[in-house]
Amino acid sequence: MTDSRIPTVRLGDDGPEVGVQGLGCMGMSFAYGPSDAGQSRATLERALELGVTLYDTADAYGAGENERFLSPFFKAHRDEVVVATKFALAIPPDEPTRRIIRNDPPYIRQAVEASLRRLDIDVIDLYYMHRRDVNVPIEETVAVMADLVREGKVKHLGLSEVTGDELRAARSVHPIAAVQSEWSLFSRDIEAGVVPAARELGVALVPYSPLGRGFLTGSFADAETDLTDDDFRRQQPRFTGDNAAANAALLEPVRAVAEAHGATLGQTALAWAQQRAQVHDLPVVPIPGTRKPTRVEENTAATRIVLTDDELALLEPIAGKVAGDRYADMTFTSAGRE
Ligand SMILES: NC(=O)c1ccc[n+]([C@@H]2O[C@H](COP(=O)([O-])OP(=O)(O)OC[C@H]3O[C@@H](n4cnc5c(N)ncnc54)[C@H](OP(=O)(O)O)[C@@H]3O)[C@@H](O)[C@H]2O)c1
Repeated sequence: MTDSRIPTVRLGDDGPEVGVQGLGCMGMSFAYGPSDAGQSRATLERALELGVTLYDTADAYGAGENERFLSPFFKAHRDEVVVATKFALAIPPDEPTRRIIRNDPPYIRQAVEASLRRLDIDVIDLYYMHRRDVNVPIEETVAVMADLVREGKVKHLGLSEVTGDELRAARSVHPIAAVQSEWSLFSRDIEAGVVPAARELGVALVPYSPLGRGFLTGSFADAETDLTDDDFRRQQPRFTGDNAAANAALLEPVRAVAEAHGATLGQTALAWAQQRAQVHDLPVVPIPGTRKPTRVEENTAATRIVLTDDELALLEPIAGKVAGDRYADMTFTSAGRE
């Protein structure tokens, strides 16, 4: 494995310069079964050595636990890292296991203060609206986020799982550095509306779950039999039962392309996500999630793989054949509102 640092790219017309691949930190505290804190810390340090500078968290990951876990790393490397966190998935006081979407100004104000406290930093580099509450005009939400920029609590703004029209409305209020939405060989619904709007407006795309939550690496085949009881992927229709079996068969062309490059399945999936930048003519910074230093080495090495037109053509039909939605409730996604 070489030690080469990955190249950098600007995150949208007015955004920060970041390594062309970021690191998703969610799994270190949440969603994907037990984590080893020492391994996760080593992963963060190794990622930084390899030129990864965009680190992705959210207040909802482990109800604040992920932000607290990352804080010492961010503080130790404050000038080298771009800290991205999110608000909008709130815990109702009487139901600690449920999440509701809140985009209203009073909620945002208390959420940003809580994130700054847990992260123990003075300013958040990139602050995303995590999910859209359709009962609050997006202009109202972004106006408060813009106030946070003016007040010096936040440097750049982002949105997650918005439609193209919502992005346009948001951009009319304040520059948006990035849209973070699911984008992978298995999930391409954002290419119809959001991606063209982002290109038009000078907004970067930050694909989340670019490894299909691990399924595209072949590391699990059926969430119900292969993953722990508390693993979030057991709730996702495409990863269980007949859907999972049908979807595993879709990895065959990925395997063929991987072999041609002497690469892994995961590297091929990441190279495909990275190449969306050229295909759609906009900055793209995937944020694969891992808790293992060797995997961060493997994943960043994918930035050096360039797929040919024939290989892209072989991979093209996969997303259209995937069985089962990416969430149990698709109204939680931009696809549910397009
Ligand atoms: N905005 C949103 O709504 C939203 C939603 C989901 C996620 N996100 C963000 O996006 C980030 C990435 O998405 P994700 O974590 O859901 O999915 P992902 O990056 O597609 O996949 C992560 C899974 O793949 C495994 N993995 C990573 N590298 C691997 C490799 N080289 N070989 C084999 N397995 C590998 C990880 O296991 P190990 O950790 O054990 O290595 C983990 O189980 C998250 O961390 C989070 O920050 C945002």
